[in-house]
Order: sequence, then structure tokens, then C-alpha cells
Amino acid sequence: MYDTAGAMNKEDGGGEIRPVAAADPGRIPTGVTGHPDGAAAEETEPAAVRRQSGLHDSSRANRGWWDSNADEYQDDHGAFLGDVRFVWCPEGLDEAQAGLLGPVAALRGLSVLEVGAGAAQCSRWLVAQGARPVALDLSHRQLQHALRISDGEDGPGFPLVEADASALPFADGSFDLACSAFGALPFVADPVRVLREVRRVLRPGGRWVFSVTHPFRWALPDEPGPEGLTVLTSYFDRTPYVEEDEEGRAVYVEHHRTMGDRVRDVTAAGFRLLDVVEPEWPDWNEQEWGGWSPLRGRLIPGTAIFVCERDEAYAQGRQA
Ligand SMILES: C[S@@+](CC[C@H](N)C(=O)[O-])C[C@H]1O[C@@H](n2cnc3c(N)ncnc32)[C@H](O)[C@@H]1O
Repeated sequence: MYDTAGAMNKEDGGGEIRPVAAADPGRIPTGVTGHPDGAAAEETEPAAVRRQSGLHDSSRANRGWWDSNADEYQDDHGAFLGDVRFVWCPEGLDEAQAGLLGPVAALRGLSVLEVGAGAAQCSRWLVAQGARPVALDLSHRQLQHALRISDGEDGPGFPLVEADASALPFADGSFDLACSAFGALPFVADPVRVLREVRRVLRPGGRWVFSVTHPFRWALPDEPGPEGLTVLTSYFDRTPYVEEDEEGRAVYVEHHRTMGDRVRDVTAAGFRLLDVVEPEWPDWNEQEWGGWSPLRGRLIPGTAIFVCERDEAYAQGRQA
């Protein structure tokens, strides 16, 4: 989750190398293709560019990236996430305190879909509250980590589903609640499609809460230090951030939406937006996570959490 790179970009024209300002929540700074030692990494490190990347290409690239990098990701961030915690973001906002899904006591018995669950730490916390989660992720390796965490127990105690959030393999109205902590939405070419899918599988009035990189971060270099405080590219440039292999194939993709885009996406998909939470950096958190750091966190937002509810008036409007 939300690891960042300060990746380098060969910009169009002249081959000038300069930092790309993608927020890059999954990116690991070195050895992205599995070569942690510098020399090997240099030979094979993907080139970072800005270019279009469609639904299927983005999905294929990100599945490969998360499969290749899941071990390192869980090594680096598993302790911060905790095995049985619901952490929304690198700021450390915890659902036990935040209550964005509703009162903790009211979770008991609810069926919950976790989208882009990774190793399903949030789903474990939901189980501990008496909820009935289903943890869905695109990456087989991430879901294997969910099994690893359960090792010695009788499985995770809830279903793990390997699927793309753009085509959810569930019947209409299957869930009371849906949630996602940086899962899927920063990586998909068509976020409205994902949001529509989530709406479809929710029961009427069901709540949907998701966190993403704060859109403002897109314009800044993805660096935890002071260099990460200077605007380098346009906040309004929606051209995806793409890392390519030597053949020019995408191996990692992030898609940018402005804050206004996210609001419009949510409502276009048939949700009412109840709140947008921009967690402030807490004094206790000294942990850097990629481009997230106490220095930047105390000055600028790093995460946006959208609290939504299935809008029934929208459905009626469409039928009229
Ligand atoms: C930053 S991690 C977040 C996971 C977990 N919430 C955590 O905090 O570690 C992003 C997750 O989204 C998953 N993902 C990316 N694109 C996806 C898609 N199109 N459908 C489902 N999951 C996707 C990745 O495999 C990865 O596990």
C-alpha cells in the first residue's frame, strides 16, 4: 500500500530525466522488478513515462506488479498495517477510532466487501468485530499473504477472491457495506466502472468508503523530503503514470483523478457523497512510507477518504 518512489521520468523531447510527480502508492523505491541490489536494478529498472493506458493494459500491468512486489510490500509495511487492524492510510488513521463505516458495534453481522484487500488485514479486523467480510484482490500473491497470516489457524475464516474490481463476481445486492483502503481505485483506467460495480453488489442504501492518494499529491515529486514540496507537473494533467519494460510494455500504472473528478465519479456511479476525510498527520506517527512523511504530512494532505452511500434516488431517476 501507498509506497512511493520519486520515480524518474524520461520526459518527451530531449530525453531529459526528471522526477515524475505521480503519487505512486504501490511503488517501491528501488529494485521494482525484484532486483534489490542497485546494479542489477539499474539494468532492468522500468522507464517511467506519462502516456495513455487502457483498462486491460492497466489491469495486466498492475496484476504483474503486485504479484512481483507483494513480498517486499508486506515485509516493508506489514508491521505498520498490523495483522488485525483496519488502517486507512499512511497517516495511520484507524477505523477503530474513525468509525467511517459506521459505529463499530453496528458492524456485527454485516456482509462486507473489501476491494483491493491485499493481505486482508482490514477484513481480519472486520471479522473481529463480528462482520462477515469477503476480501477481493487482483493479485494472487497478495492473497497468498492473507493465507500466510492465517497460517496455523483454520484458514482466514472468510472468503478470499481473486478478481478485478472492474468486474465483481458477485450477484446484485450481495453486501451491506463495501470498503477499500487504497485498493484498486488508484490503479484503474475506468474508476466509474469500478464504482458502478460496487454499487451493483451493494444492497439499497449500502455504504461504500474508499481511500486513495490525495489528488493534490499528483503535482509534486513523490519524495518524503523537502524536494517533495515543490510543484513539478500539472495537477490537471490526467495522463497516467506508466512504468515500461524494455519492450515498452506497461509494468505498473497509476491513474490520476482531480478532487472534482472523484466527486463526479462517485455521483455518476449512483452514490451520494456523505463526506471527504483528509486525515491530518498525527504527532505520534514518525513513520515514513514512500513519499508520505511527517514533514510533508504536517503541511499537505496525503490521503482522501470518500464516504458514500448507495443513492436510491439515482436509480429511480435512471428508470424514469
Ligand atoms: C496499496 S495496496 C492496498 C491493499 C491493502 N488495503 C493494504 O493497505 O495493504 C493496493 C491493492 O490493490 C490491488 N489492486 C490493484 N488493482 C486492482 C484491481 N483492478 N482490482 C482489484 N484489486 C486491485 C493490488 O493488488 C493491491 O493488493
